[in-house]
Amino acid sequence: MFITFEGIDCCGKTTQAKLLIEKLQSLNHSVLFLREPGGTTISEKIREVLLDKKNLKMIQVTELLLFSASRAQLVSEVIKPSLTQNKIVICDRYHDSTTAYQGYGRGLTLGAVKTINRVATTDVLPKKTFFIDITVKEMYDRRTANNQDIDRMEMSNEEFYNRVRNGYHELAKEEPERFVVIDGKQTIEAIHEEIWKMMESLLPMEET
Ligand code: TYD
Repeated sequence: MFITFEGIDCCGKTTQAKLLIEKLQSLNHSVLFLREPGGTTISEKIREVLLDKKNLKMIQVTELLLFSASRAQLVSEVIKPSLTQNKIVICDRYHDSTTAYQGYGRGLTLGAVKTINRVATTDVLPKKTFFIDITVKEMYDRRTANNQDIDRMEMSNEEFYNRVRNGYHELAKEEPERFVVIDGKQTIEAIHEEIWKMMESLLPMEET
């Protein structure tokens, strides 16, 4: 079973993915956790190029193709073989990030982005996607509170992030069966409960 986590930066998806994994492992499920971009030797190298603050010359199409190249490698080397072995694969960001960030955020043609997504994923698509939604203001507040170092992507402005967030909402409307939209302002425990309820309902069918 393939599950993804999505949302704008600082939404809490990584924390939630980790909590879900702990829970699944405590019940003896075989789980694999991945993050994008990254997850293979080649994909991690592409990640460095993508997030390096020195790469200010990077044009938007290069960005789109590099995120997609990183994903294509991850799908072929790791995701597909793991799904074949019936593992639960949990990925922190996947193709929806490309639609939201490069398509809606950067303004690249959505049709082209979706075609490239299909090429990169070879139509290996998540069964459920947890979209943890916070406002852009909340994102900035959390960033300030964490006092974290920002990467090249995070140098984008407020309008960009508003478009990205709106993009996620559009995607959730397009695929309401796959998307679970979660209010990211709730407590960590409440969000985990919501995610777990959904996961529990999927597990028996998948595992028998
Ligand atoms: P990362 O440090 O992993 O951030 P996060 O914890 O928010 O996931 O950096 C990934 C950055 O790359 C993040 O700003 C989102 C962006 N991104 C895209 O723009 N397109 C993509 O397809 C993916 C996978 C990520």
